[in-house]
Amino acid sequence: MSGTAQIGVTGLAVMGRNLARNFARNGFTVAVHNRTASKTRSLVEEFGDEGTFVPAESAEEFVAALERPRRLIIMVKAGAPTDAVIEEFAPLLEEGDVIIDGGNAHFADTRRREKELRERGIHFVGVGISGGEEGALHGPSIMPGGSVESYASLGPLLERIAAKAPDGAPTVAHIGPDGAGHFVKMVHNGIEYADMQLIAEAYHLLRAVAGYSPAKIAETFRTWNTGRLDSYLIEITAEVLAHTDEATGKPFVDIVTDQAEQKGTGRWTVQIALDLGVPVSGIAEAVFARSLSGHAGLREASRSLPGPTAAPLSEADAARFADQVEQALYASKIVSYTQGFHQIQAGSDEYDWNIDLGSVAAIWRAGCIIRAAFLDRIREAYDTQRELPSLLSDKQFAEEIGAAQEDWRAVVATAVHQGVPTPGFAAALSYYDALRAERLPAALTQGQRDFFGAHTYRRTDREGSFHTLWGGDRSEVSTD
Ligand code: 6PG
Repeated sequence: MSGTAQIGVTGLAVMGRNLARNFARNGFTVAVHNRTASKTRSLVEEFGDEGTFVPAESAEEFVAALERPRRLIIMVKAGAPTDAVIEEFAPLLEEGDVIIDGGNAHFADTRRREKELRERGIHFVGVGISGGEEGALHGPSIMPGGSVESYASLGPLLERIAAKAPDGAPTVAHIGPDGAGHFVKMVHNGIEYADMQLIAEAYHLLRAVAGYSPAKIAETFRTWNTGRLDSYLIEITAEVLAHTDEATGKPFVDIVTDQAEQKGTGRWTVQIALDLGVPVSGIAEAVFARSLSGHAGLREASRSLPGPTAAPLSEADAARFADQVEQALYASKIVSYTQGFHQIQAGSDEYDWNIDLGSVAAIWRAGCIIRAAFLDRIREAYDTQRELPSLLSDKQFAEEIGAAQEDWRAVVATAVHQGVPTPGFAAALSYYDALRAERLPAALTQGQRDFFGAHTYRRTDREGSFHTLWGGDRSEVSTD
């Protein structure tokens, strides 16, 4: 016998609860379930008037409440708790039913689960959901992986609850098979880390070099948010910087411990990028900057190391410098996205996901944490040039970064002179310069490797592998 709920949500912590409410508000009948039944009851008591909920106390009741093919979303902690919930429900399901994991799972786990469940006739869909609690309730950006058949059943529901881009399109698209959705969500978070780090560096420079107060920097970010940097993260940065701590009357940013934490998705992005051989230096620097900030003892022990003291700028010079920082921020941001999209392309090639990069940019235009006006231009770049080797190969982005590069260099040089750490800006600039270099010193690296380990090298003037007899007469031998 099948029930009446079109969708079920199990795991009713904030994200699960808000997602269930979002489905209900959009007219779907939603079965709700939680390990501790009191959470299920309180959801229905508090929000029952928002739509039709079917509360279930047991796993059996929950499964029985769902119409066939059943669609049930798991919103529990990634890792072992997810496996435990899958094992609780899978034996109760029938062929063609769909289990959806809406947590921040590692894509490799999603691939494993998808394969195991496929062998049991059950669809498993790993879905990246971005937008925090507000997004879950009012419209997130949704990145589903899994089979085409599962998307046919699930897609129409997700389209209703997703955020809507400025052109009205729902911010959801089938990313690709098995773990593709969670992979793209992981890279989204890596880019989120990079965006946040670049913004933090801009703030640090405006404070330390331009001598601006947090309130003035908030104003500056507000102005930037009306231009090409228009994005959610810039908008909330202004809010955070403008906030005053009630207890002390100090700027809020000055009373928060300067040690950034992380749940780990940024770290995964870098780990996987290393495996794929993709240079995501901007994302890596952002992860490292967070971990460096957390090494309180090391920082304490190093505080007396010598360095320059920042010289205050005149008001006019400070304003000019702020404009240069905007250029550096924008140029570095283009680099982070270039690197992130490169990683998605590499993942897609490695796992045969056939990911459409234009569609990824399109569904990041609203709902998610990195939503930004310029994502529409990234979408257009990939939509109109399917074989684009890199975002930096797009004429418009190349022109913009070219126009920004002088100021970008000036900002990095000033930061170095004044002793303000800008790992994100500097790494992005080095990436840019490395890409444009006629020749890289990698040739020397190859020579060294051949010298100490006979690792061989290729020549610029003819095919094949070669080794120089460094310990002998230094003649060259072919190693093919
Ligand atoms: C989102 C966020 C969300 C979360 C991350 C980041 O897209 O909605 O990325 O997934 O905020 O977990 O958290 P950390 O900064 O703690 O890694």
